Amino acid sequence: MLLHIPEVLTPAQVSECRQILDAADWVDGRVTAGHQSALTKNNAQVPESHPAAKRVGNAILDALERTPLFVSAALPLKVFPPLFNRYQGGQAFGTHVDNAIRTIAGTDHRIRTDLSATLFLSAPEDYDGGELTVEDTYGVHSVKLPAGHMVLYPASSLHHVRPVTRGARVAAFFWIQSMVRDDGERTLLFDLDTAIQKVTQTEPGGPAAVQLTGIYHNLLRRWADA
Ligand code: NI
Repeated sequence: MLLHIPEVLTPAQVSECRQILDAADWVDGRVTAGHQSALTKNNAQVPESHPAAKRVGNAILDALERTPLFVSAALPLKVFPPLFNRYQGGQAFGTHVDNAIRTIAGTDHRIRTDLSATLFLSAPEDYDGGELTVEDTYGVHSVKLPAGHMVLYPASSLHHVRPVTRGARVAAFFWIQSMVRDDGERTLLFDLDTAIQKVTQTEPGGPAAVQLTGIYHNLLRRWADA
């Protein structure tokens, strides 16, 4: 599933995040790349341990907890602390797949990357190119969202970032280990949850809503690791 999650951050939050990040020291993005992706990656990043990354990362994690669409779609067990990248002057990231397991810097905590997320921190009119292009079983998707909006997609997919030919594209990127490892099962639960919300609106507290909610939790109990 590839999902657009609108307005994770407000415009005011985006500009505050950008002020903090723009003042940080940026380094070559290959510091967090795997073997294969290092060959094709060309961007800048804020170092994982930089105070700016931690501060803005925590603000994003707080915002995600308050975003029901994210919680429903990702069923997060662990969220990797957000990282920040910037592409400008023709920089791009060629086709790659994200590492399956990532260690959180400075800890021995590991997460399995079930889902990848990109949260856009530049307005689309401020740069040319820079589309995130994701190949999944349903075809090729090109994603370029307003600042503060996020895309969630399977970390198992091949993806790339097209060259940024004008301006700068700044984004947060991170991974989620879901309580439900399988993308198909997780997508079914999300679809069911979405349907339950609709039934609950038309018939609040009715027997259909109660029964469907029971089915949702019994499927979650069958498929989830907690
Ligand atoms: Ni990637």
